[in-house]
Amino acid sequence: MNILLIPISFITLLLTYKIYQRLRFKLPPGPRPWPIVGNLYDIKPVRFRCFAEWAQAYGPIISVWFGSTLNVIVSNTELAKEVLKENDQQLADRHRSRSAAKFSRDGKDLIWADYGPHYVKVRKVCTLELFTPKRLEALRPIREDEVAAMVESIFNDCTNPENNGKTLLVKKYLGAVAFNNITRLAFGKRFVSAEGIIDEQGLEFKAIVSNGLKLGASLAMAEHIPWLRWMFPLEEDAFAKHGARRDRLTRAIMDEHTLARQTSGGAKQHFVDALLTLQEKYDLSEDTIIGLLWDMITAGMDTTAISVEWAMAELIKNPRVQQKAQEELDSVVGFERVMTEADFSALPYLQCVAKEALRLHPPTPLMLPHRANANVKVGGYDIPKGSNVHVNVWAIARDPATWKNPLEFRPERFLEEDVDMKGHDFRLLPFGAGRRVCPGAQLGINLVTSMLGHLLHHFCWTPPEGVKPEEIDMSENPGLVTYMRTPLQAVATPRLPSHLYKRVAVDI
Ligand code: HEM
Repeated sequence: MNILLIPISFITLLLTYKIYQRLRFKLPPGPRPWPIVGNLYDIKPVRFRCFAEWAQAYGPIISVWFGSTLNVIVSNTELAKEVLKENDQQLADRHRSRSAAKFSRDGKDLIWADYGPHYVKVRKVCTLELFTPKRLEALRPIREDEVAAMVESIFNDCTNPENNGKTLLVKKYLGAVAFNNITRLAFGKRFVSAEGIIDEQGLEFKAIVSNGLKLGASLAMAEHIPWLRWMFPLEEDAFAKHGARRDRLTRAIMDEHTLARQTSGGAKQHFVDALLTLQEKYDLSEDTIIGLLWDMITAGMDTTAISVEWAMAELIKNPRVQQKAQEELDSVVGFERVMTEADFSALPYLQCVAKEALRLHPPTPLMLPHRANANVKVGGYDIPKGSNVHVNVWAIARDPATWKNPLEFRPERFLEEDVDMKGHDFRLLPFGAGRRVCPGAQLGINLVTSMLGHLLHHFCWTPPEGVKPEEIDMSENPGLVTYMRTPLQAVATPRLPSHLYKRVAVDI
């Protein structure tokens, strides 16, 4: 009897507190929450679409309860500005799920750190050291080498007589660029040989990434209902093993770099070298260095590949745009050489194609959730301390009140009006804005534009035989990062002289 009394009184206390909180604050409207689970069972899997539908019914700022946690979602330009500019500092904490807390050692990295002295310090390392224009330029040969490897591999596959006319799984090639680019940039390692064979460290790296995803997904429901957690105990052992495995691999790579620096007397431009040489200056713990390196993998790998896959789907659906971008490339780059990043400034239409793709298909449509570290008011409603705040950048970029024919893929709109996409214009926020804006935005834009430029300059892209452009499935997979539900398949036809498809490997 007594044993039952304890949880019952705990639940009653919790419910009373929640009711008190709801009465005390003027919360944004939203679908009626159920006791205990809140709106968890009403949320459709593709969350940003579901929130956009609710915004139609309840208005541009809504309350959605994940169990007993209040989530506020804003879906228009003005409210995005209130969240990311006017109340930026009070809304700059992060909600850490139990798995995120474990992976990040309670926010010792950047992505999962709350706003505070640690965050400010690590962010400074990113802005002043890791993502400077100088370092981005120094790492450019890596990006160009990986894009050249992608072109070569597509060429080999589409000209192979056995494959002739067969469709390619576009994501396979984009994923390889993203993987090799980020591992070379962060760890100074290309785990995959020119022949496509992955080495032992690379296999271990991939196994760690996929194990991390598996562990992260295993806890979902109990995350939101604290008193249910006893039924879903955190697999302490599995998390500890995962952390130790990740640290072991990262330390081994760090040691290799330290040794190489000692032997050569100079540091390379990769993030691992930069962080190790800056460790003392910024007083960075080993946990922070390892956390930061893995943040780059988490945040910078899939986002770029996904953005290009969506862009390619739009270009195949819209042959007019594809042809116009190719005409621009032909007149600026010609048929005697390949494009480089130095050509970007002479390729305004290509840049608009990348921007238009990021408008319609931001890879993180709800950004990453922010958490309130104080009670604040947004849109005249209260957001109590501890609530999560999401900006539906997908919905904002399709808002007919802001955009003419918002669903049309028309890059020309950005030639008519230049709209910033790096956090200065609240109509277009694929990288977020304010204190937590994506530090890798310029790197992401360069890589996406470069991949698109090469794909379009080197090949003509059409749907698989028997598929009409309008039949390409443009629906999304559920998840924080939005893949195409049906991976894009396409036919590539070379359009340049064959010597321009050869990669000359660069070792930096
Ligand atoms: C097209 C590519 C990319 C897109 C669309 C994108 C988008 C975003 C967004 C929306 C956020 C969350 C902002 C917020 O919480 O308010 C973010 C955060 C972040 N991104 Fe990116 N990103 C991209 C590429 C990259 C790359 C290439 C890197 C690094 C190599 C990177 C590193 C990060 C990091 C470390 C954060 C966490 C920042 C923080 O919490 O302070 N991203 N990104």
